[in-house]
Amino acid sequence: MRIFLDTANVEHIRKAAKLGIISGVTTNPSLVSQEGKADYQAAIKEVCSIIQGPISAEVLGEEVESMIEQAQDISTWAPNIVIKIPATITGLEATSILAKDNIKVNFTLCFSLNQALLGALAGATYVSFFVGRLDDAGHDGMQAVKDIVEVFNHYQLPTQVIAASIRHPQHCVAAAKAGAHIATVPYSVLMQMIRHPLTEIGVTRFLADWQRVSHQ
Ligand code: E4P
Repeated sequence: MRIFLDTANVEHIRKAAKLGIISGVTTNPSLVSQEGKADYQAAIKEVCSIIQGPISAEVLGEEVESMIEQAQDISTWAPNIVIKIPATITGLEATSILAKDNIKVNFTLCFSLNQALLGALAGATYVSFFVGRLDDAGHDGMQAVKDIVEVFNHYQLPTQVIAASIRHPQHCVAAAKAGAHIATVPYSVLMQMIRHPLTEIGVTRFLADWQRVSHQ
């Protein structure tokens, strides 16, 4: 399973990039606005320059035509841009058109296997399944990820499944076990994934013991 960072915070992206394990970034309008960035284009371009892998930028529009127009514009901002399109009827039509035009789409805001399947049939490169938000609504988000992966494998659909709306490290464990191709994680969750109290206690003890040895 690959790890994407789910943020528009440039400082976090730079720090995570240094770890050498981030292969992409997902953003959304809420994440960009949290950073107080007035210039959306400049913010996305900056992210694209830090991480070489796919960077998802969201398109907002009620009509297919305006979605296509925005997507065609955004896709010129950097070679690694992926267009995020919501799993709606207009979004599905836009995805089909963009995929035929070789523009990579991340079919986002998926909350059902049917939405993910339709996104894949439309030619989306990725489908983003929002595990945490579905859990919040009282459903089993990760079981749905497992089902989607199974169906895509069964029908040999090349679309990659992104486990999104990740809230804690246990979601990452479950996403990996469910066979998700990618988990897109907030920076705080990435930090929680590497930290373990027993590792920290172990390092402290080794350092103390080593000091005793070297002072003998
Ligand atoms: C994914 O691409 C989304 O940006 C993200 O995972 C949404 O997560 P949230 O439910 O925490 O807003």
